[in-house]
Amino acid sequence: MLPAYLPNPVAALCGGGLPVDLGHNYSDGRRVFGDGKTYRGLAAGILAGILIGLVQIWSQGRFGWDFLPEQTMLSITLLATGALLGDLVKSFFKRRFGKERGAKWPVADMYDLVLGALVLLLIFDPGWLFATVTLPVLIVILILTPVLHRAMNILGYLIKVKEVPW
Ligand code: CTP
Ligand code: MG
Repeated sequence: MLPAYLPNPVAALCGGGLPVDLGHNYSDGRRVFGDGKTYRGLAAGILAGILIGLVQIWSQGRFGWDFLPEQTMLSITLLATGALLGDLVKSFFKRRFGKERGAKWPVADMYDLVLGALVLLLIFDPGWLFATVTLPVLIVILILTPVLHRAMNILGYLIKVKEVPW
């Protein structure tokens, strides 16, 4: 899951500048995605996810770590892209529910990246998905994700990268 976990913190570190929705409003008069979703955040985050995935692929070959699921160029790209697409889609619905940028939306804020990554894998690499994300693996992901999410956001808040600790 590393290629899916890294994009969010890297987007928070490197994001900013031109928003994905270019400042446009949706038909309900609220922003499409909001200022928290930027092209720089998307690009830097996806790139970082793919880079950590390449390190995983390299270490597998180098050290013969066959206890780890085998990553491929496709799987790491889908994990990284899916994570931030999930985050983007989440923000779209967050705005539709009238929640401002940075507002708390408990379950969605934590699992958006998991859902986005799984959906992209299901569409473009179902073989890898079902061979790798077995039920016990999925359970570990569902338990680990909120814990890591909370820890990273508190850390981001303490080092003043994030404005709120969630
Ligand atoms: N970020 C970005 N581009 C993205 C995702 C995140 O630039 N595609 C940056 C933004 O600076 C954002 C920060 O990372 O404020 C934290 O991300 P997140 O918590 O997902 O955004 P929020 O500001 O909370 O906005 P939202 O309410 O839409 O989730
Ligand atoms: Mg947020």
